[in-house]
Amino acid sequence: MTITITPTPGVERPLSSSREEIAALLAEARDRTLQLIETVSEDDLRAQHDPLMGPILWDLGHIAHFEALWLDRNLDGKVEFVEMPGMYNPFDHPRRERGALPLPTLDATLDAMADIRERVLERLERVDLASDDPLLRHGYVYQMVLQHEYQHNETMLQTLQLKTGAPYTPLLRRQRPASVPNGRDERVVRIETNGATLGTDDRRRAYDNERPRHAAAIAPFWMDRTPVTNGEYLDFMSDGGYRRPELWSDAGRAWLTESKVEAPKYWRREHGSWLRRSMDDVKPPEPDAPVIHVCYHEAEAFARWAGKRLPTEMEWEIAASWDPAHSVAHEFPWGAADVTPSDANVDQLAFDVAPVDSYSANVSPSGCYGMIGDVWEWTSSDFAGYPGFVAFPYSEYSEVFFGTEYKVLRGGSWATRAGAIRNSFRNWDYPIRRQIFSGFRCARDD
Ligand code: AVJ
Ligand code: FE
Repeated sequence: MTITITPTPGVERPLSSSREEIAALLAEARDRTLQLIETVSEDDLRAQHDPLMGPILWDLGHIAHFEALWLDRNLDGKVEFVEMPGMYNPFDHPRRERGALPLPTLDATLDAMADIRERVLERLERVDLASDDPLLRHGYVYQMVLQHEYQHNETMLQTLQLKTGAPYTPLLRRQRPASVPNGRDERVVRIETNGATLGTDDRRRAYDNERPRHAAAIAPFWMDRTPVTNGEYLDFMSDGGYRRPELWSDAGRAWLTESKVEAPKYWRREHGSWLRRSMDDVKPPEPDAPVIHVCYHEAEAFARWAGKRLPTEMEWEIAASWDPAHSVAHEFPWGAADVTPSDANVDQLAFDVAPVDSYSANVSPSGCYGMIGDVWEWTSSDFAGYPGFVAFPYSEYSEVFFGTEYKVLRGGSWATRAGAIRNSFRNWDYPIRRQIFSGFRCARDD
């Protein structure tokens, strides 16, 4: 059988990639990076707060040196290094060891960031954005470096949430919209999969692991309309979820025994009731807000308790993107328009999850709410290349992580910058990780 794949609408639309626009995006990314650390002391920036996360000072230097590598040296025609040599190379210096590096002072780091940026902007004046080289064409390499800074912003927020000592106080918090009742009280929605496609052929900003677009042979299924909420998760907890071995996989049980966990990370019990902390905000878990800071094993145990399962990443993407009425896959749940902080809880400044149905536009064609924003959603899929995968422009972004060690997460969180999330975006992490902004939704066959 031959499957004809029609072009995704929007993919061929020209990238807004004039030099001025690229320069403005680079400046905006840097403003946000610096805004996030504005209220943080140099000691806290330098500290190794937890073995899971390196010092924020390292992230700052790494952001700048990644930019120097790709927007300066590697533009000379030949990709010299896949990651920068020296102190900021992430493979040579694993996170738990970064606190011991002789990291420069904050002032010296900021100076280096500014110097590199100056060279990059100078060079931007001369590069050929209409080049046939896929690295430069459509300004791809600039989009890659922008997304790298966005992603390290989320890493920095994980560190700030994890930090020892006084909790992090954001410079400003964006007001969350009020949750508007929409009469949608069904727990699951039917997902039609006939003709659905996965992935993208976008060469403007998609990562190599999102390509190529390909046909999906996935049976129809049922998907939770919303992410699992604190209220539902509390039901699982009070029904003995953490104490019933039969709900957990072997690996999950091993993790549970070792970690002795009995609630999501950042929850604590006070006078018999639960409180959860997001940065410096401590409050009872809002029953209607998505549960956050749970690992894959907890998600899987909850799903088994609920008589469901976790979706595969393919199912997740179809539920987020596929419009069966028009046989078209969209880049965002609502269509082709890029996400803004009014459409979904993304872009960091809410500094927490929001109750489900708070963002009325954030609904996919099949009726799923909140596929983008609030929490990264665990899927049951291992991280692997799509059929026809080609590493570009370097294997160390995706390919070296393919295998059975990592599970795929989808959809982005409140801590994800708008420019680093879309329906086809794939994130991955170890199934035991909880410092990431992770939640989940469940699926079932029928
Ligand atoms: C895609 C979030 C798993 O943080 O390890 C940052 C992103 N890659 N610098 C990570 C990334 C290189 C990556 N994740
Ligand atoms: Fe990096």
